[in-house]
Amino acid sequence: MNTSVLNLEDIQSGVLLPRPTPFAATYIILRIDDRTGGRELMRRLSTVVASASHVSSPDRDTWVSVALSFNGLQALGVPQTSLDSFPPQFQQGMAARAKMLGDQGESSPENWEKPLGSADVHVVVTAVSPDSEHLESALERARQSYRQLTGVTAIWRQDCHALPDEKEAFGFKDGISHPAIEGTGIPGSNPREQPLRVGEFVLGYPDEIGDGSTTPQPEILGRNGSYVVFRKLHQRVAAFRQYVKAKAASALSEELLAAKLMGRWRSGAPLALCPVHDDPTLGADPRRNNDFLFKEDDAIGYKTPPGSHIRRMNPRDANVAGLPRIHRMIRRGTSYGPPLPAGVMEDDGVERGLMFAFVGAHLGRQFEFVQSEWMNDSAFFGGTSGKDPVSGSSDGTGAFEIPRRPIRMCLQDLPRFVITRGGEYCFLPSLSALRWLAELKF
Ligand code: HEM
Repeated sequence: MNTSVLNLEDIQSGVLLPRPTPFAATYIILRIDDRTGGRELMRRLSTVVASASHVSSPDRDTWVSVALSFNGLQALGVPQTSLDSFPPQFQQGMAARAKMLGDQGESSPENWEKPLGSADVHVVVTAVSPDSEHLESALERARQSYRQLTGVTAIWRQDCHALPDEKEAFGFKDGISHPAIEGTGIPGSNPREQPLRVGEFVLGYPDEIGDGSTTPQPEILGRNGSYVVFRKLHQRVAAFRQYVKAKAASALSEELLAAKLMGRWRSGAPLALCPVHDDPTLGADPRRNNDFLFKEDDAIGYKTPPGSHIRRMNPRDANVAGLPRIHRMIRRGTSYGPPLPAGVMEDDGVERGLMFAFVGAHLGRQFEFVQSEWMNDSAFFGGTSGKDPVSGSSDGTGAFEIPRRPIRMCLQDLPRFVITRGGEYCFLPSLSALRWLAELKF
């Protein structure tokens, strides 16, 4: 068998295919109390879940995907030797990793929305579609797989959406930067980034540093699978607006200050390409809005501060400790809750935010590394203090540095704008792994 040719037919579409724009999505969490019912669920879902090869099918933009937590694999009766072959982060689950992820205080697991973070989260079914009508038909297909199934119960549901302008709750265009992946035919958004080896995102293939030997066993279970990290992140939109208004100055308008925190204007236009004025046409142009690096043009960060969200999350070729290429990820962010109306500065008490989803083959060196080292520390770029000003775990005492001539500007008292409501580490099995799970005995 040629082990390096990508088997798109066996990979769930949710792993590789970009989501439609606009789109609606629903997450459903299921608990398995009876392994026979759980295995039947796997069998039924294996006929509903779309594969990554359906790129040209008429309904390519509507799909159902399925992911399992470690507790879910246990509930299905996966043999212990196989369970032991999964990485420790996955075995422990997200709640156990809370301290390292910065999920403390209000964001700590004891304050999470139930049942997130509990041992009841076994299966996460996601339906995605460009509109609510097609979403409903995809959801109905998913529902048929667990309806009247003994020992399988739906215990949580979250509806989400991405608006046509793709703006998340703070008002910034999202869904711009994606890595190119060798062998998939799906282009990345930065023409200056070399495509990444497929093993960075799909298990069982060579990756940037090895031969894919970390695949869970047996091969039929691990190969063509991936990991997904779900995080429900509440956004304090009024607090963000208040902070930006309070810290703006004559030299730095509110919009420029907000752009410095993010690294992009709200239109999506990158500071790297238009550092002084917004350029909405550039922001909307997928051929140009991610076409930049940092080192040659902006080593110090006069345009894009080293501490801004996008430069932390992907330092590209900037001088940082380590190799950015081995910490890349596929993101599938989806908003939930209604937007806070424009101009409102007081919190209305409404729940809104981002259902963040990471997809990648390495929970430790991709998601956890980025969350702990790049988001919540500054040492990697030589910073002395400060966390990600948009999504970091700041506590009101942090600072954010904006390199400027003749002297840098330093914003103080950075509060926490994003609160974790819960989440889980899940395994996205291949289609043949779903059938293998369905046929488990004993
Ligand atoms: C509520 C929390 C968050 C908000 C509002 C947010 C918002 C954004 C926005 C507006 C962008 C720029 C658009 C784009 O490049 O697609 C972006 C980029 C990005 N974000 Fe976030 N984000 C959040 C949380 C996270 C988390 C938790 C991670 C990972 C641990 C993350 C990783 C990234 C990455 C990797 C990029 C692309 C950077 C690049 O390649 O330039 N974000 N985010």
